[in-house]
Amino acid sequence: MAEVVFKVFRYDPEKDETGRVQEYRFEPEPGWTVLDGLNHIKWNLDGSLAYRRACRHGICGSCGMTINGKNRLACETQIKELGTNVITVEPLRGFAVIKDLIVDMEPFYDKLYAVKPYLITKTPPPTDKERLQSPEDRQKLDGKYECILCGCCTSSCPTYWADKNFLGPNALLKAARFLFDTRDEGFEERLNAIDDKHGVWRCHTIFNCVEACPKELNPTQAIVDLRKLILRGRL
Ligand code: FES
Repeated sequence: MAEVVFKVFRYDPEKDETGRVQEYRFEPEPGWTVLDGLNHIKWNLDGSLAYRRACRHGICGSCGMTINGKNRLACETQIKELGTNVITVEPLRGFAVIKDLIVDMEPFYDKLYAVKPYLITKTPPPTDKERLQSPEDRQKLDGKYECILCGCCTSSCPTYWADKNFLGPNALLKAARFLFDTRDEGFEERLNAIDDKHGVWRCHTIFNCVEACPKELNPTQAIVDLRKLILRGRL
């Protein structure tokens, strides 16, 4: 493949007052992803570059970053498919930068914990079998459980940029994953967090999250469904 220029955001809190852009030029192998390019830089050109990665297969969610202005998984973004030989790589917007492409995910996880992202049950389980679901009830979770917590959706949300207390599309999608689970009995426990001016009512249905999600999920629809659920609960 022809030479590419990676323009990578760099920030070292021990040396830099602000972020800067560093350029790296190299010829990628055919089939390389942006993550392969970053690995090439780290392993061959500049070992000081910091970024997160683990699975290389779009599963772990570690490598969410902003590539040519769009939030994506670096391991699922083919260099060739970007259609340009100039590739900008930046940390996810709206999150504090710890170093280079690594952002502070703690506030993101705090929002996730606020919606209690686990099955809540109050009735005792059957003694002779698991808590079963019909195939139809299981299908209601499709599009809600596949989130890999990469942060691409929350980072792309203008409402989150303006209101750092907004739960954000990821946490609300996760709330929907459990609230629409027919085995769950945690509606009251989650209500305080989601039925709030920083919860479902803060979303302005801008749909950036839908565009950003690498798993093609629809957090905006989940938020609309949660609003209906809350309103039905009030009737
Ligand atoms: Fe796991 Fe990219 S490295 S999703």
